[in-house]
This record gives sequence, C-alpha cells and structure tokens, in this order.
Amino acid sequence: MNLFYLIAAVCFIIGLKRLSHPKTARSGNFIAAIGMLVAIAATLFSSGKLDLELIVIGFIIGGSIGALFATRIQMTEMPQMVAIFNGFGGGASALVASSTFLTPPESNFLIVCISVLIGTLTFSGSFIAFGKLQGFISGKPIVFKGQQFLNALAFSAIIILLSINNLGILDSQSIFYAILALSFFLGIGLVIPIGGADMPVVISLLNSYSGIAATATGFLIGNNGLIISGSLVGASGLILTNIMCKGMNRSLANVIFGAVGLEVASGDGSQKEMNIKSYSTTEAAMIMDAAEKIIIVPGYGLAVAKAQHVAREVADTLEAQGKKVLYGIHPVAGRMPGHMNVLLAEADVSYDLLKDLDEINPEFEDCDVALILGANDVVNPAARHDQSSPIYGMPILDVDKSRTVIINKRSMNPGFAGIQNELFGYDNSIMVFGDAKDMLNDLLKEIKEL
Ligand code: TAP
Repeated sequence: MNLFYLIAAVCFIIGLKRLSHPKTARSGNFIAAIGMLVAIAATLFSSGKLDLELIVIGFIIGGSIGALFATRIQMTEMPQMVAIFNGFGGGASALVASSTFLTPPESNFLIVCISVLIGTLTFSGSFIAFGKLQGFISGKPIVFKGQQFLNALAFSAIIILLSINNLGILDSQSIFYAILALSFFLGIGLVIPIGGADMPVVISLLNSYSGIAATATGFLIGNNGLIISGSLVGASGLILTNIMCKGMNRSLANVIFGAVGLEVASGDGSQKEMNIKSYSTTEAAMIMDAAEKIIIVPGYGLAVAKAQHVAREVADTLEAQGKKVLYGIHPVAGRMPGHMNVLLAEADVSYDLLKDLDEINPEFEDCDVALILGANDVVNPAARHDQSSPIYGMPILDVDKSRTVIINKRSMNPGFAGIQNELFGYDNSIMVFGDAKDMLNDLLKEIKEL
C-alpha cells in the first residue's frame, strides 16, 4: 500500500509545482487530483472490512456536490468556496480522530485532542469566514472588550484540561467533550474580529490548519497518505499566507489581531482636496490612439465587472494597431492570490504579457498610458511616502511614473483599505468613470473607429 501512497505523494508534489504558473496550473490540479484518487482507492481496497456500496454512494453524492460548486461558483466567490472546503477538511479530521477515541481500542489521547482542537477550530472558523464573505454575517470586524482575553482563556482551559487528564480529577470523556466545545468556540472567537476583506489571508491560514489536523489524524490511524497530504497542505497554506502578508506589508499578527476595516482610515485622518479630471471614453480613446506603449493594470473591480474578456479584446485591438501592450499584476490585486492571473488566463491573454510587480515597475517610466481597471490600493503612491497611511510600505505598481494614467472605476469610493487615493488627483491622471465592462466595451468601439 505504501507504494500507492508514494505514487500519490509524487503526484501531489508535481501538482503543487505546476500550480505555481498559470500555464501549467490546470494540469497540476489534474495530476494532484489523480494522486488523491490513487490514495483514496489504495486506502479503501487495503481495508477489507469497509462497506464499498456505502462508499460509492458517498463518492457520488460528494463528487456531485463538489463538481456543482466548482462549475457554478463565480471567480469573485472563490475564497468562500475554499473556506467551506477547508471547514469540511478540518471537520472530517476531527471526526476521524474522535472515532479513534470513542471506539476501542483507544488511541493516544494527546494526539486525539490535538487533532480535535485544530480540526474543530478550522471547522467553526472556516464557516464564520464563509459567512462573512457571503454576507450572512457582517464583514466588519466584530469586536468587544475583553475578546482577546476570552480567546486566551479558552486556549488556556484546553491546555489545563489536557494536563490534568492523568490526575483523575475528571474522566477522559468529559475532558474530550470540553475540549471539543472549547475548540469550536475558539474558532469562532478567533475569526469574528477579523474584517471580511482580510478573510483570504485567514482562509489560507485555516487551510494550513486543516492540513495539520489531517496530519495529526494520519498519525492516529497510521495512514501515511494522510500524513503526507496533510503536511503538504499545512506547509503550502503557510507559505501562501506569508506571501499574502508580504504583498500587503502586514504581519500575520496584524491581520489576526489588527481588526482592519473597523474604521474607515484615511492616512493622516484628513480627506485632502484633489483636482479630479473626469474624461469621456472618446477622450480616453484619443489618448490611447497617440500612445505607443500601454500597460493594463487589473484590480478587484475588473473581476467584479467580469471585464477580463473585453479587456483582452481592447488589448488585441491596440496590438493590431502596432502598439505594445503589457499587463501589470500586483500579488494581492483582487481578493485572493493569483486572482488576476487566473481571470486573464481564462480570457486567453498570453502568459508572456503578464508581468509581476518586479518585472513591470521599471516599464512604467517609458510607458505612455497606464490603464487602471478597477484597481485602487495596489496603485496608491501613498504606500511609498505617507507613513500615516495604513498601506504604508505595501509594495505598489508605479503607475504614476507613466506619461498618462487613465483610471477606470465607478465612483470616488475607496478600495479595500478604505483610504483616499492621491493618484486620482495627480496632474498626469485622468478618471473615466463607469463599470469596467461597459467602459471597455465603449472604448473598444471608439478605438476601432479611430
Ligand atoms: P481595491 O483596492 O479593493 O479597489 C477596487 C476598486 O474597484 C474599488 O475602488 C472600486 O471602486 C472599483 N470597482 C468595483 N467594482 C467595479 C466595477 N464594476 N467596475 C469598475 N471598478 C469597480 O482593489 P485592488 O486594487 O485590486 O487591491 C486589492 C486589495 O485587497 C488590497 O488592498 C489588498 O491588500 C486586499 N487584499 C487582497 C488579497 C489578495 S491575496 N488578493 C487578500 C486580502 C486582501 P468603485 O466602487 O468606485 O467602482
């Protein structure tokens, strides 16, 4: 059986490696899924006492729900789908660990409790994260006095319960159920104070937790497949969390305990007067007509408007007119890692044109037009110089160095960080207000006619 787990592990590792580039991500996902199928099949067939009929029924029901979710879900709703999957992963690990304790022979109590703690916490925390992103629960940080103290108290109670297990003060069953309840409470308590917009980071962290829970459960039931896959999930989830925190220049502690979004911050607190120049699409098209090099910068608004296809059409038309077009992709543009890459790949944008932060920033200096589509925080120059700004220090796309910056959004409303963007008032900036898809459709017509 270990040979099959080895094959599965190789598939997971190749799959993860291939997920790191949009060109190979699809096949990477497929290879990893095959690996999981091999691991599941090996586990089922090696354990002779399982009711295969029930398993096939479960496989069909679970597989159908998964396939339905995966095909129906919108790209902007992907974080909440991942949240639910993490929650189920954590819950499943906690259930398996519980069953090893509740049915003889009893397993190692400490590992059972670690698995139940992390699995249950992941379950309740993930469902709160889902509720926040889906709008079932307020996306704002829910905070009250003594909240962190209460969380610390719950955690300390778990540690105390674990350490008194062998002292005969309480029986193991009571300790087990108390830890289960406290872990459930802790999951809720840890996630409710975090703002909805920080949820992707939390979800990635919970993803890592679900992996750790699976690994602990793997040790309990002596399943190498579970240990390997759980460790890979745990490690990759942590790496992803770190990448996101770096992209926002925030520490993990700040995301978890910072309650960003509680108040609408505005840098030094004042709304500065800005000279906003609002242009029509016709005027924007004329500026584009005179340009030779254009850099498109997509943000969350492009995803909301589902404007990736028409953005590609605009870019293709400009290229056909002899202009150089590139795309500048910020690591945290949108609401989850790789959001913009996936959207643009879906619209068949050539991967060679997608440039990440380090590659694209030197390109802005000799760029005629930077076309910002529903991006805000990731192009806010305050991040470079305004120490009072909540995004100070966040690496940004240097769009302001372009000769002209055309910004498309629907209004002067702020982005995720809730702050004014001084870029909009710069001398070389012009605003073209409207929904990204409508604006780009109009722009496409205009540039075709010029
Ligand atoms: P944001 O700063 O959130 O700005 C998006 C802008 O899109 C808004 O200002 C909004 O302005 C505009 N918009 C919304 N709907 C639109 C539509 N239909 N058409 C045109 N514009 C529209 O987005 P960003 O620049 O992509 O930055 C991402 C933010 O999310 C960063 O602050 C980042 O730290 C945070 N974040 C990202 C991640 C990851 S991993 N990607 C994770 C956690 C947090 P209007 O309302 O005026 O249209």
